[in-house]
Amino acid sequence: MTDKAAVLVTGGAGYIGSHTCKALAQVGYLPVTYDNLIGGHNWAVRWGPLEEGDILNPGRLNEVIGTYLPVAAIHFAAFAYVGESVANPAKYYHNNICGSLSLLDALRRHGNIPLVFSSSCATYGAPDTCPIGESTRQVPINPYGFTKLAVERMLSDYHAAYGLRAVALRYFNAAGADRDSEIGERHEPETHLIPQALKAMDEDAEALAVFGTDFPTPDGTAIRDYVHVEDLAAVHLAAMTRLLAGGTSDCVNVGTGKGASVREVIAVAERVTGRSVYRFNAPRRAGDPPKLVSDPSRLKTALGMDPALFMGLEAIIASAWRWHTRLVEREAA
Ligand SMILES: NC(=O)c1ccc[n+]([C@@H]2O[C@H](COP(=O)([O-])OP(=O)(O)OC[C@H]3O[C@@H](n4cnc5c(N)ncnc54)[C@H](O)[C@@H]3O)[C@@H](O)[C@H]2O)c1
Repeated sequence: MTDKAAVLVTGGAGYIGSHTCKALAQVGYLPVTYDNLIGGHNWAVRWGPLEEGDILNPGRLNEVIGTYLPVAAIHFAAFAYVGESVANPAKYYHNNICGSLSLLDALRRHGNIPLVFSSSCATYGAPDTCPIGESTRQVPINPYGFTKLAVERMLSDYHAAYGLRAVALRYFNAAGADRDSEIGERHEPETHLIPQALKAMDEDAEALAVFGTDFPTPDGTAIRDYVHVEDLAAVHLAAMTRLLAGGTSDCVNVGTGKGASVREVIAVAERVTGRSVYRFNAPRRAGDPPKLVSDPSRLKTALGMDPALFMGLEAIIASAWRWHTRLVEREAA
């Protein structure tokens, strides 16, 4: 055993979780990944132990928490495909809601270990106003978004009734990869725009579908707010630090306040890589809002993070491209 303070990271073998584990280790914590590897990867767990387990398993959670006595928990473990959540809501309600409930009860049993929770801008649904502040009404339009809202509600009730403190971070679009290309995004299937666009530079790969070219936006394509995954990891550290200093529960948007359209993302990707993205235009997907951009003011006031200092789209795509190249080489070997 080490004398470093342990942090329980559910879903630490996944994309955002593994980057956060690296950030935790860099400031002296021991990140303990708790993951059933359903969507995560052994190779992504490099900065602390991997404890295989399911958040739905209270006995295993109890055992791992009892072994490491973490000072805090960061909860990434979830299913996160919007379309799949519409086709199979039971899978999402069970894993994301029942799994989170099981985790919250384990944290309570061990003296109310404070928690940082991965929420999502999907809890806002398709708001009429933009930028989106934390007080914008949360009206999710798919089961995935609803599961995140349900957990936020649980957190608020558990705080009021039992004193369990938590910060829910409502991410906009996480993107990019570790600056050393040790880890990066690897979802199966991949539904996120940037890795899809990079894949679609290979003429043998599937072309990129640009869903919707008639949105009420300057170039007709949908606008999203992209946050570099390393900046997102740093926000988790800030939220955890606030809780460890005795700070109270909160909900905070994690975006930059700047949006980029699908066509802008493609143009930057082509400029950064010097290659063309093979693409075709497709109809809008049901329920895809034209524009989701965060009002990032609270990020500054609540967590002391200045989104003006976050990495921009060029840096995001350059890091994703380095990782993509490494992944292609590794998978071809
Ligand atoms: N990627 C984004 O842009 C984005 C945006 C908003 C919110 N989020 C949320 O952030 C979190 C992390 O997203 P990601 O992109 O890193 O996803 P990911 O799929 O890469 O990681 C999720 C991890 O959770 C694990 N997991 C899932 N169910 C589990 C269970 N029952 N028990 C134990 N482990 C389990 C998976 O094996 C995987 O390693 C998710 O909660 C997601 O909803 C992501």
